[in-house]
Amino acid sequence: METPRFKRILLKLSGEALMGDQGFGISPDVLQYVADEVYSIFDLGIQIAIVVGGGNIFRGVAAGSYGMDRASADQMGMLATVINSLALQDVLEKKGIQVRLQTAIAMHEIAEPCIIRKAVRHLEKGRLVIFAAGTGSPYFTTDTAAVLRAQEIHAEVILKATKVNGLYDSDPVLNRDAEFIKKVTYMEVLEKQLKVMDMTAISLAMDNRLPLVVFNLKTKENIKKVVCGEETGTMISNS
Ligand code: GTP
Repeated sequence: METPRFKRILLKLSGEALMGDQGFGISPDVLQYVADEVYSIFDLGIQIAIVVGGGNIFRGVAAGSYGMDRASADQMGMLATVINSLALQDVLEKKGIQVRLQTAIAMHEIAEPCIIRKAVRHLEKGRLVIFAAGTGSPYFTTDTAAVLRAQEIHAEVILKATKVNGLYDSDPVLNRDAEFIKKVTYMEVLEKQLKVMDMTAISLAMDNRLPLVVFNLKTKENIKKVVCGEETGTMISNS
């Protein structure tokens, strides 16, 4: 189990993953748990980049739907990802991981600007890179930012950490007979409208043949299992 299957990965964490049961903000316990899980794969010697969402603080789409200008709402969402990224940087560094935080919106006093060539160099030097502020543009989700950054740094896979085990053919909460899907193609995800990421993110990943594993972050050591190729979660790819 200890041999990693990938050399360079991009981990997508939702903002909600950081709030635990408290309904808003960042739970220190959850943050520590996430840091421990990330450390367990960093320790295997793989190169890790992280994109984190901001939904635990502010959701641009939701604010847009109740009348706020969507571009402004998305900019607030992007700033929320910076707050989460700073918290992650802090807790990961306390575990002894060298972290470099890059933001897609320039804020030099807080972090490096997003320069992909520099990010890749950081990874090669054994540093963990966090990409914050999404794509830097409104109307794009942090899932799309994750796919974009994964491609830019030539990650072999995106690991999408969720609070569910992976994909089912129907909602397991509503349908007791819902079947778990171990492997599926991007085309099937689009055709069956399986809820995993927005269409832009899915299309971008499919067009560039970037595999994605959806897995449950709440299950301890799950992330290590995914990285070491053990069967867990749902694998989405082109074939
Ligand atoms: P090497 O060039 O490989 O030595 O990388 P390095 O990241 O250690 O060197 P650099 O001098 O670029 O950065 C030193 C520290 O400053 C790191 O923690 C960076 O994240 C941080 N840093 C670099 N550029 C900026 C910036 O524009 N703004 C902020 N706030 N920090 C920066």
